[in-house]
Amino acid sequence: MDVHEFREAGHRAVDAMADYLAGIEERRVFPAVTPAEMEALFDAPLPRAGMPLAQVLEQVEARLMPNCTHVGHPGYLGLITPSPAPAGVLGDFIAAALNQNIGAYSIGPAAVSLERRVVRWLADLVGFGPEAGGHLTSGGMLANLTGLKLARDAVSGNRVQHEGVRGPSGVYVSEERHVSVDKSLDAIGLGRDSLRALPTDDAYQLRLDALEQAITQDRRRGVRPLAVVAMAGTTNTGSVDDLAAIRGICDRESLWMHVDAAYGGGMLLSRAHPGVLDGIERADSVTIDPHKWFYAPLDAGAILVRDGAQLTRSFGIKPPYLTDELDAAGERFQYYVHSLEQSRRLRGLKVWMSFQRYGSRQIGRWIDDNVAVARRLHDLAAASPDFRSATPPRMSGVCLRYECGLDERRSAALHARVAQRMETLGRFWFSTTVMKGVTFFRVNVVNFRTRPEHMDELFALLRAECVRAHDALAAARP
Ligand SMILES: Cc1ncc(COP(=O)(O)O)c(C=O)c1O
Repeated sequence: MDVHEFREAGHRAVDAMADYLAGIEERRVFPAVTPAEMEALFDAPLPRAGMPLAQVLEQVEARLMPNCTHVGHPGYLGLITPSPAPAGVLGDFIAAALNQNIGAYSIGPAAVSLERRVVRWLADLVGFGPEAGGHLTSGGMLANLTGLKLARDAVSGNRVQHEGVRGPSGVYVSEERHVSVDKSLDAIGLGRDSLRALPTDDAYQLRLDALEQAITQDRRRGVRPLAVVAMAGTTNTGSVDDLAAIRGICDRESLWMHVDAAYGGGMLLSRAHPGVLDGIERADSVTIDPHKWFYAPLDAGAILVRDGAQLTRSFGIKPPYLTDELDAAGERFQYYVHSLEQSRRLRGLKVWMSFQRYGSRQIGRWIDDNVAVARRLHDLAAASPDFRSATPPRMSGVCLRYECGLDERRSAALHARVAQRMETLGRFWFSTTVMKGVTFFRVNVVNFRTRPEHMDELFALLRAECVRAHDALAAARP
């Protein structure tokens, strides 16, 4: 390929992205398009002949860019995907150009060390000691899967990865878990039926009496209790389980303790709210996603393990075709030996560049600002008799409900209708959820552009749309 063309097109792409970021607040959050229109937009056969890169970029600018969900827009308050930090965006560009395959040291010596340093920084934030290990993953799903495989293997004395699963096991987690826990239990062969989804209290934290009871019941039935997944920032409300108490139960019962801090791990950088995740340092493994609340562009999750050697015990296989003949001293770190993935992209660069550019202090300030705007929204709802906020936010997740005396079926319809309408209006985007059988709007702020005035505007609009939807439902009442 012609380097001149790459340079020209590269400058143009950077200019387009800089303009995009500078003007992002002027856009609709979600485009006014339909799935059929989007399919038609790209409905073309495989090109037989190529075209100049400048022309390809024109297509990207015309077709892709206007039809994105603009997650960097201050009104994007939806499924947890952050406004990406610009330094991280450049990190991914550079990582792609260098194309280091850090599965093996021989395909990226500096890249392996950089990634290991990022893992070390994250382990330091969690409070793990020098024996800790880990790696970056595609996201929280794969990090939770890895944590639960380590649990399964460790608790069996590292037999099960050879012999397969024998006999039923129990894994304990709150009803507010992320679905990745269910999928993980399926994938590691324990089955979804081994999951005990336990009730939470009014703050959506795992009830310890229910945990104790479930473990006792399983032992009585001949089920082997295996692990507790403690939530350190639930997807809905950012609730944090009692990590210290869960550690005590795990020690007594010889269970693995995995902490899902995929979202909530950001609080480790908060200066305004220190100690929210106290006890996380005593977990056996932790999921923490830089691509959530450290504002890294997708994808960058992480699994951290207090005893890093368990990764090797769990995954370590060295096939002859990957033997590194040049590593007689055993000094070259081979990610493929210590993890599930083989080929592995350099996810760490965008995280490393963001920490270098902004420092943990600036990222922590963004996080504290997100918590503050979430609290503002909660306060607005709490002060309004027609709204209910599920619980005061410990992080940046707020669940709100319009209370207008409808039964739950009609209330769910109202909340869905209002969320759809908000998407159509284009100023904000958020989702709905159900907790304890009741529907809520789910607002989550992992966005360094969202300011307090956006919450005031959101709440006023939300109320107007709820009243409107209520009137429409009442008029349609048979
Ligand atoms: C608490 C929690 N765990 C795990 C996940 C899964 O993470 P990912 O979407 O990065 O796979 C999420 C996603 O929102 C989450 O909120």
